[in-house]
Amino acid sequence: MSGMIIEAVYFITALLFIYGLKRMASPVTARSGILIAGVGMVLAVLAAFLYGLDVSERAQPHLSTNLLLVVIALGLGLGWAWYSGKKVAMTDMPQMVALYNGMGGGAAAAIAALELYSGNAQAHGVVVSMLAVIGGLIGAVALSGSLVAWAKLDGRMQSTIRLPAQQIINAVLFFVTLGLGAAVVGAGLDGGVSMLLISVFFIAALVLGVMLTTPIGGADMPVVISLYNAFTGLAVAFEGFVLQNPAMIIAGTVVGSAGTLLTLMMAKAMNRPVSNVIFSQFGGDDSGDAGDIEGTMKATDASDAAIAMYYASKVIIVPGYGLAVAQAQHKLYEFVKLLQKQGVDVRFAIHPVAGRMPGHMNVLLAEAGVPYDIIYDLEEINEEFAQTDVAIVLGANDVVNPAARTRKSSPIYGMPILNVDYAQQAYVVKRGQGKGYSGVENELFYADNTSMVYGDAQKVLVQMIEAVKSLG
Ligand code: TAP
Repeated sequence: MSGMIIEAVYFITALLFIYGLKRMASPVTARSGILIAGVGMVLAVLAAFLYGLDVSERAQPHLSTNLLLVVIALGLGLGWAWYSGKKVAMTDMPQMVALYNGMGGGAAAAIAALELYSGNAQAHGVVVSMLAVIGGLIGAVALSGSLVAWAKLDGRMQSTIRLPAQQIINAVLFFVTLGLGAAVVGAGLDGGVSMLLISVFFIAALVLGVMLTTPIGGADMPVVISLYNAFTGLAVAFEGFVLQNPAMIIAGTVVGSAGTLLTLMMAKAMNRPVSNVIFSQFGGDDSGDAGDIEGTMKATDASDAAIAMYYASKVIIVPGYGLAVAQAQHKLYEFVKLLQKQGVDVRFAIHPVAGRMPGHMNVLLAEAGVPYDIIYDLEEINEEFAQTDVAIVLGANDVVNPAARTRKSSPIYGMPILNVDYAQQAYVVKRGQGKGYSGVENELFYADNTSMVYGDAQKVLVQMIEAVKSLG
């Protein structure tokens, strides 16, 4: 098989990845961007398959075994991805992203392990063994760290586990792992391949990933997943250099840089440096207590809230995770259209970490056909709450919690929030007394100008639509 064809396919793959990523930048073109990048990935797999044939032609004895292994691996991967992709609920997407992320990091670490155990990396000189070791370290940390993140998001593991002197233990473990990596490279200089040393190095890297992730909790998990995404990209790029595989280098670099940018943007949205997310204990452990908060929660009917909005001139809607759970986006837009018909200025305010994944609310609203020009990001709309008659919160909690502004000991202290409490009247739609993702009590619910509308968001919106229709 000609190497030229394989190189050409890799080149086209790279172009498709970059073009696909560019189209993902806007919700209007994102769907086609994903398809284009997906075609690129199919081509990359095909090229890798052809490469396998090419190499095997030169090493005839292994041809059929190699082919069989590749086909089995492709079948398992395709089957699992197809099944889990079809089955996953939108609200469980972050867990799936964490898991896939971990698989990518694990694959990079597995390549590193194979190249080091077989002595291939060492035979190609000190630079290649260093790249294999660094890629292996990052990949293994991304694998075990992502698995811990998955277990936390899926509710299979306690959200925060902190040891005394955790930071010191982590720092020691980090330097020990680096030292082991250096020893693996050093041993390779004399042509030595110590299976034991390489194994201990990988075990230390896996433990490091676990130790780094277990203390991080609550609202920080999205940033962590995004960071491990960047790690996985970086690890794949390093291993691409080791294997001299251009598609891996390009895809890894693209994922690494996109992941890094996303991490920085999310950390900025939470108003915290990334180092603070990873190395410090975010905020405090004080989740607040209903007893500490002044005021009482006042319940009202869906129809009363709907009528107040019908006669308002300006309404801001804050969607959150609960709206996605209730799948109430279509009913919501139906309600919004009724308000607009009455001449109400209706806008949506999106918090960067509302829901359970970046862009979750934008995807949800796009599904219902809400036009983009009435959807605003936090910094675009936050000033407007003070001049708004009614702000309505649908299934959101942490992203509108004033404790982030005022309560220094709160786990969400410092995170920018949507200023719903500044509106003249606020309504909060939720099923009951359930807390938000970070487990913090919400002062907004007790404020004088807030009324609670209890019920599933979908059911409440049906009642609101009926109430408004009965007026018209
Ligand atoms: P949350 O703080 O998670 O609050 C959601 C609220 O929705 C809950 O208080 C719940 O109260 C209510 N709810 C649940 N099901 C409902 C239903 N069917 N109908 C009506 N209400 C329902 O949501 P948020 O404000 O969107 O904040 C997101 C949080 O998740 C942040 O802490 C963020 O850091 C974290 N997080 C974000 C991401 C990304 S990247 N977006 C990823 C992982 C984690 P009831 O139980 O009383 O109904």
